[in-house]
This record gives sequence, C-alpha cells and structure tokens, in this order.
Amino acid sequence: MKSYEKLLRHNKEWAQAVNKEDPSFFDRLSHIQTPEFLWIGCSDSRVPADRITGTQPGEIFVHRNIANMVIHTDVNLLSVLDYAVSHLKVKHVIVCGHYGCGGVKAAMSNHDFKYVLNMWLRNIKDVYRLHNEELESITEEEKRFDRLVELNVIEQVQHLAKTSVIQRAWKYEQRPHLHGWVYGLKDGLIKPVFEMEAGTPIDPLYQYDDL
Ligand code: CO
Repeated sequence: MKSYEKLLRHNKEWAQAVNKEDPSFFDRLSHIQTPEFLWIGCSDSRVPADRITGTQPGEIFVHRNIANMVIHTDVNLLSVLDYAVSHLKVKHVIVCGHYGCGGVKAAMSNHDFKYVLNMWLRNIKDVYRLHNEELESITEEEKRFDRLVELNVIEQVQHLAKTSVIQRAWKYEQRPHLHGWVYGLKDGLIKPVFEMEAGTPIDPLYQYDDL
C-alpha cells in the first residue's frame, strides 16, 4: 500500500465510525457551520488545532502558516479573518504559536533561505528587533528562543487589533476577544501568554476613527 492510500483508508473508517455514532452528523454539518473560534496557528504538522483542543468539525475555523504570522499584506490571512469575523461572527480569535517553532528558529539564524522564505522570516526578525533588549539579556539560547516564540505570538495578536476588520467588530459588536497562546511540543500543553478583550485601547496611531 502506498503511504497516501493509508490516509484514504483511514478516512473511510473514520466516516463510517462517525456515522455509526451520530447518523445525522454529516447531514447537519453539510448545511451550516457556526464556529465560535478562529484559530491562526503554525503549519507545523505537530500542532493540529482540533486534536490539541478537543474540538470537532464545525467548531473551529482554521488558518495556518509558517510561524502563525499576521501580516497585513497577506491576502489569504486577511480574507480568512474578514470572513470569520464579519460573516461567521466568531467570538474568539486565537493566535497559537509553539515552542520549538522552526520558522522562529530560522529567523534567529543568519542563513540565507532564499527569496520567498527570507521575505516571510523577515517579519519575525522585526519582532526580534522590537524586543532586542529583552532578548539579548537572555544568555541561554534555548530560553531566548522560547521567549521569541512568546513575543511573536503577542506581536501577532496586536497586529490583529490593528486591522479595521477587528476594530469594526469591536466597535459595533463588542467581539471578538483576542488570545495569544503557545503550545508545548514536549508536554502537549497550551500556555496562554496574552489577551486582548474586545475594545482594549490600542496605540492611537493605529486606530481608525471613521469606521
Ligand atoms: Co512552527
């Protein structure tokens, strides 16, 4: 059996098992999705959003990219955000990074990853530069790496609050709440590191006054 055929076989088994337990499951979900959460996570195969949070199909809307970045020129991320916030009306947006993130590690190095990856990783280098003093004071490299993972998550949550999509929803609907979490590959546990309730004041420079 080819490796990918295993996936198709498991899919068949899964669909049969779900159907046996809840015969109306697929019919119900084929008509509507009303997820309460938008998850912005890392593409890393070891951090599956639904598995680590015990959520079922229909419960969590997911966007993943290298190092869970919120970049304001990323049409993909912005479309997901706009759809989730303005149309699905999610109540919470979670940015979840993870310790041992290869993207963050790469950004800490001086290696040339070539064109597109360099461009992506530069955004993480910017986070390092913003927190240069704190990070450079951490002598142990592993701890500095862990801290950059946390700071990167915090920074991405703040980037969310700078979008007009979030600001408009905050102004008119007092949602969504923003959360910054970090997942531990070594123990499987999620550590909340940052939170922004709907309406949290942000730097006036980024506030839109005619939403
Ligand atoms: Co990662």
